[in-house]
Amino acid sequence: MCGIIGYTGPLPANGILLDGLKRLEYRGYDSAGMAVMDGSRMKVVKRAGRVGLLEDLVGGLMGHVGIAHTRWATHGGVTDANAHPHTSCDGMIAIVHNGILENSEELREELIGRGHRFTSETDSEIIAHVLEEELKGVEKEELVAALLRTVRRLEGSFAFLAISPLLGDVILAARKDSPMVVGVLPDAKIPASDVLSFLKWTDDAYFMENESVALMTPVDIEAWLFDGTPLDVRPVKVAVEVKGEYGGGDVHHTLKEIREQPMAVRRALEQDGELLSELAGLMREADRVYAVGAGTSYHAALVARYMFAGIAGLEVQPVLASEHRLFSGWIGDGSLVMAISQSGETADVLEAVRVAKARGAKIVAIVNMPRSSLERMSHASVNIRAGPEVGVAATKSFTAQLAVLAALAYHVAGRPIDLDGERVGSLIEDVLAQEGSIERMVEGIKDGRDVYLVGRGMHYPIALEGALKMKELAYIHAEGMAAGELKHGTLALIEGGTPVILLNPSDDTYKETLSNGEEMKARGAFIMGISDRSSDLYDVHIELPRTRGYETPMVEVVPLQLMAYYTALLRGAEIDKPRNLAKSVTVK
Ligand code: F6R
Repeated sequence: MCGIIGYTGPLPANGILLDGLKRLEYRGYDSAGMAVMDGSRMKVVKRAGRVGLLEDLVGGLMGHVGIAHTRWATHGGVTDANAHPHTSCDGMIAIVHNGILENSEELREELIGRGHRFTSETDSEIIAHVLEEELKGVEKEELVAALLRTVRRLEGSFAFLAISPLLGDVILAARKDSPMVVGVLPDAKIPASDVLSFLKWTDDAYFMENESVALMTPVDIEAWLFDGTPLDVRPVKVAVEVKGEYGGGDVHHTLKEIREQPMAVRRALEQDGELLSELAGLMREADRVYAVGAGTSYHAALVARYMFAGIAGLEVQPVLASEHRLFSGWIGDGSLVMAISQSGETADVLEAVRVAKARGAKIVAIVNMPRSSLERMSHASVNIRAGPEVGVAATKSFTAQLAVLAALAYHVAGRPIDLDGERVGSLIEDVLAQEGSIERMVEGIKDGRDVYLVGRGMHYPIALEGALKMKELAYIHAEGMAAGELKHGTLALIEGGTPVILLNPSDDTYKETLSNGEEMKARGAFIMGISDRSSDLYDVHIELPRTRGYETPMVEVVPLQLMAYYTALLRGAEIDKPRNLAKSVTVK
């Protein structure tokens, strides 16, 4: 979940690395650091806290080769010492690492036994010490062998970069199950965790193969698989999808991305019909279809179950990626796994896909980041085309996922897509037009301890998604409930003034949900109704435009996102980077 970046080239490295770190900060933001080399001298600065804290410190780091890191703590607390880069005992090697080493305890003991001194509690520091042993006394032509010996000693997931005054302008890179892509300019190379960190400089990118190492100088990249096979290094143009505006502006990224949803849905529905038909064919042929995802993407999988059942009569089994083991036993060569992920880098999703693939399943990825690890592991993939999503909370990627899943369901059914991008976009615009009144409305929940979000049928997963937004953005405990389940327990918690958000569009769930609302109201709940129909039941009514069928989930989630956003704003929460979270969860 950490973000790493390096630079070797003709310009001062500190500015480029700092700029890249700011763009990577969504991946982790509890500490940051940088190492820059000037000839035979290497200087390291690192700090617990946000990247912004580094700004004053890196001015003195002179040199044209460097590496930098933004951390999301896994091993070891949030301290200056645990921040990256980490160095070898002699201070001659600096590394930055993203991932988790699974054999860190054994290696640490071994290394300490041989006299290595550790200055942090992290697993990552081990890499600096292993490299120190492997690079000792090696000539330039033996460098690759030494790097390969290093990675073979490491277990777990890693993407790391290393520099050393002993290596001149060379950056060493390695990746296994954690992402690494290199920005390629004729006279500079910028290896990093994602393309957003270097897009300002180049859109030529070399995506490192999984289980490979690379050596790069300003003018060249050479790469090998872990077994020593040399690789053909071919940079590609980064797809236009990631080139959207991601620079900032004066509102939060999260709000900007909520507001971008009309455009995101329109673009998501502009898909290659042949590709969707091909995927639909695979789904029809499969014995079983699973939809795997985590967090918000799992909620998209839950909605997909209703969409595929309702549109195509196809049973899709949603699977939480981190719980895939329960299902793995049933997966075989007749199975199809739809892996849904904004980033395409979520470790739990990649693991579930690896297992399913090994058991012979066909893998179809529904992703936002082109050329992500997931896309490259899959037999086929659809890009949801939402554009870069920088706010840690998923918003526009969710609505775009729903649009693509619905379109795919229509292809499976062999029917024309009964979903028009222009129309759904303008329905979402109708909701966005109520932003001001939603902002005023959340005054009523901002000081609350709990919020219940209640819906039936496909509105239930939307209630779950709305609750997730409220938790991660506003830090308020929120529970998404299936309306019919309330009386089986949770109703006991409803008392005078308990805020309840009732998802109640006028479809076949309407009447039953309304009577569940009555049951809560009778116990004193404060009901905020989200519906195209008004009712005396609602203490507050957020009016939805009239929607049809599978348009509804894409539209009704928008007021929930806005409610969470404005509640967070009133509570002074860190909106784009909620505490303890990271955008791309690359650890299991
Ligand atoms: C919630 C959120 C997370 C992600 C989850 C999966 O707002 O952003 O729950 O949805 O970490 O991420 P992806 O979709 O990148 O696999």
